[in-house]
Amino acid sequence: MTKIRAAVTAIHGYVPDYVLTNAELETMVDTTDEWITTRTGIKERRILKGEGKGTSVMATEAVKGLLEKRGISPDEVDLLICSTVTPDMKFPATANLISHKAGIKNAFSFDTNAACSGFIYTLVTAAQYVETGRYKKVVVVGADKMSSIVDYTDRQTCVIFGDGAAAVLLEPTTEEVGVMDHKFQSDGCGHIHLHMKAGGSAYPPTHENIDAREHYVYQEGQAVFKFAVRNMADVALDVMNRNNLSSEDVAWLVPHQANMRIIEAISRRSCVPMEKVMVNIHKYGNTTNATIPLCLWEWENQLKKGDNIILAAFGGGFTWGSVLLKWAY
Ligand code: UT7
Repeated sequence: MTKIRAAVTAIHGYVPDYVLTNAELETMVDTTDEWITTRTGIKERRILKGEGKGTSVMATEAVKGLLEKRGISPDEVDLLICSTVTPDMKFPATANLISHKAGIKNAFSFDTNAACSGFIYTLVTAAQYVETGRYKKVVVVGADKMSSIVDYTDRQTCVIFGDGAAAVLLEPTTEEVGVMDHKFQSDGCGHIHLHMKAGGSAYPPTHENIDAREHYVYQEGQAVFKFAVRNMADVALDVMNRNNLSSEDVAWLVPHQANMRIIEAISRRSCVPMEKVMVNIHKYGNTTNATIPLCLWEWENQLKKGDNIILAAFGGGFTWGSVLLKWAY
């Protein structure tokens, strides 16, 4: 029997209009454009402003644009999965809100959370629904309003993150394109280095933990940096090797956009030269679940059918992984 694969058949992204520049951050915390640029590669990031506006606002824009682009009606969608660490509310799932706002009525929807690896984990999860043959149109949206959980008095973290969303449509194909292979791993020992302590069931919100600013991202940057470089590069190389792909066979490497120095280290370790590495960190910073699909969206015009694209991510948990995606159009 011919294998059904899940092909990405459309992609669309959305970033909010407000641009938070390094110059503006200089007025908020003790930092400089020079430090941020040389240590992270980030020049600006987008911020979603407005009372009551959550992640679903951006994700809905991405999803609506996606369906329009592919020329399909919201009624045709079977499943929508939203990968986020900044859901609008603890429940219901932000995916339910997105489906509602985008007019998707004949689908089921739920959220996933694997921090910065969330988009690639969810892409593979969604692909498996498509590969069963039962689901024909599955939307995966990676979206985060990181500005809602970033402490704008903590100069080490507030300069890094930004807001954004991007969505892909997966459809079945019998051609040799789509989600071809993946390798994922996680290790919960990493939670001490990167987490948001308060607001969950272990530490529900109290005046005390909010005063202690425990409802914001806590990150030990250097520790995370070391794990990120080693694990992201190793897993990307594993996926390349077991698919017999040399760096020449790889059309594009799409790393999670956490730090320009991490991206360059992964390029060196995997021998995929920087001209084949997608980078938009200078414009958007680290948008957590949106970094990888935002890159694919921006590069869409340069992608060709059959291109081997290596996606690689590392994030809180720790979680990390890599996907081989063969571009389908
Ligand atoms: O996406 C999920 C995974 N996350 C990551 O992969 C992030 C990984 N980590 C990083 O990207 C980097 O560790 C950071 C960008 C977070 C920090 O960069 P770093 O080069 O590791 O800086 P550091 O923490 O070693 O700090 C070096 C110095 C310190 O000063 P002293 O102690 O040497 O005097 C910091 O206080 O830089 C200082 N510093 C800053 N100075 C100006 C830290 N943040 C800033 C800042 N502006 N914004």
